[in-house]
Amino acid sequence: MSWNAGYVADIGYTAGFYRETAPGHMAFAALATGRSPGRALRPRRVLELGFGQGFGLALLAAANPDVAFEGFDFNPEHVANARKLIEGAQLSNVMVTETGFEEAAARGGANDLDIVAAHGIFSWVARPVQDAIVAILRQRLQPGGLAYVSYNCMPGWAPLQPIRQLMMQVKRRNPGHSDRQLALGLDLLSKLRQSNAGYFAANPAAARHVDAMLAMDRVYLAHEYLDEHWDLFQFAEIAARLADAKLAFLASATLSENLDRYAVPAALAPLLAGIDDPELKETVRDYAANKQFRRDLFARGSGELTAGEHLRLLAQLSFVLAVSRTRVRFMFQGPVAQLNGMPELYQPIVDLLAKGIATFDALLALPVFGPSNAAILLDCLTLLVESGQVLPVIGPAADVAPAKRFNRMIVAQARAGRVHGSLASPVARTGIPVSDFGLLALAALFDGMEDAGAAAEHAMSILKALGRRPFREGRLIEDDREATGFLAENFQPVLEEAVPVWQRLGMI
Ligand SMILES: C[S@@+](CC[C@H](N)C(=O)[O-])C[C@H]1O[C@@H](n2cnc3c(N)ncnc32)[C@H](O)[C@@H]1O
Repeated sequence: MSWNAGYVADIGYTAGFYRETAPGHMAFAALATGRSPGRALRPRRVLELGFGQGFGLALLAAANPDVAFEGFDFNPEHVANARKLIEGAQLSNVMVTETGFEEAAARGGANDLDIVAAHGIFSWVARPVQDAIVAILRQRLQPGGLAYVSYNCMPGWAPLQPIRQLMMQVKRRNPGHSDRQLALGLDLLSKLRQSNAGYFAANPAAARHVDAMLAMDRVYLAHEYLDEHWDLFQFAEIAARLADAKLAFLASATLSENLDRYAVPAALAPLLAGIDDPELKETVRDYAANKQFRRDLFARGSGELTAGEHLRLLAQLSFVLAVSRTRVRFMFQGPVAQLNGMPELYQPIVDLLAKGIATFDALLALPVFGPSNAAILLDCLTLLVESGQVLPVIGPAADVAPAKRFNRMIVAQARAGRVHGSLASPVARTGIPVSDFGLLALAALFDGMEDAGAAAEHAMSILKALGRRPFREGRLIEDDREATGFLAENFQPVLEEAVPVWQRLGMI
């Protein structure tokens, strides 16, 4: 068998950042549910299993310069790219190696890690590789350590499974490059869909799914649908497998999924409240929300917190606004319902944060809350964090220089036509989403152009050198004046609103 063991390796993976892999996010997810964050509160060593292009791993290393990061991936293209990012930003706290999980498990190790993250791996690798991941967790995670594991789950995938089966049939009958196999599979699916095949007529969710697939990134699709192995897990199966590494479920890293009034239809609340088996409860939540993908946090030996201990740990947290005050919305779109936050609760939080970073205790001291309402404040903060408008600030102040170097490198890559979607914040110790406009506006700002008009001229020259032009609502803008005007319109809010936020977050 070849080194990739059925895993797609002829198309490199996308270069994304996933906030659930950030130690601070994990610690907040635990505390938001009243559980101990264990070693995620002040981690020293973090391992990422299967880091793809290494973008997220390098970003986290830049944003957490006092934490040692390590990464394993068996794809040499991924390792080479990750090393380029690490060297480009001169990061000294991260090491990546071209290592398969089975090889790493055979090598062993000794309880040296505080966090292990495996995002988008477990469902897509063969059983022996899954076992190797569990062995790595068992060998290397310390007591008090956290594991983050995401995977495809039931029942959300149930009506969609035949889509993947058809894609695999096409792949097996058409040896060659994954690109071509994907194109052939998508073509067949879309023809079936257009002709309203019985499967799609009987399964409207499958029809919607194919429509969505046709608009998706091809690289992502190849890795989702063309790997030889594809397991759709029940939560209980994952819990049982990770129990072999002495791990117990802690919380969902998708923060809103821990709030039943938001993540589960109201009619099911009494049913859920009556279930006291935690594993069955999680499974019922999956059915209630027809979940397709889980992002789970497991802990190795996490004890229960008393109310007093919980408050003492919360007192170590601060919060910062991640968007400008004028952009904050109190409307939260959850998986099954939209929740309209009460302005009388949310407004004072956001007004205080607009003045600067605030501690949990300072927020609790707001007249609308007070010591007896910590749980209400925590729910509000959970939704503000989940919606990306507020970030937890955890741990000592970090050196901002590595993140600034990393961000300059990402902007330089954008000038060369390689666009990434996040930058590093050493204040929040995580990644912050950035649009193409944001990257181009920063390129201009770094070259000394501070007004939107000059930045737009600057961006046009970059785009022309790359043979590109801006699009407005899917239409290529041919006229230079219109294109520059369009860029200036989009740069204005970046320069006026986003740049001050990025400065507050220590990014530039
Ligand atoms: C779907 S990608 C996810 C990448 C990254 N975590 C992300 O979410 O962007 C899976 C990654 O695991 C790596 N991988 C798959 N099987 C592996 C194995 N047996 N040993 C080491 N790496 C493996 C692949 O090369 C790929 O980079």
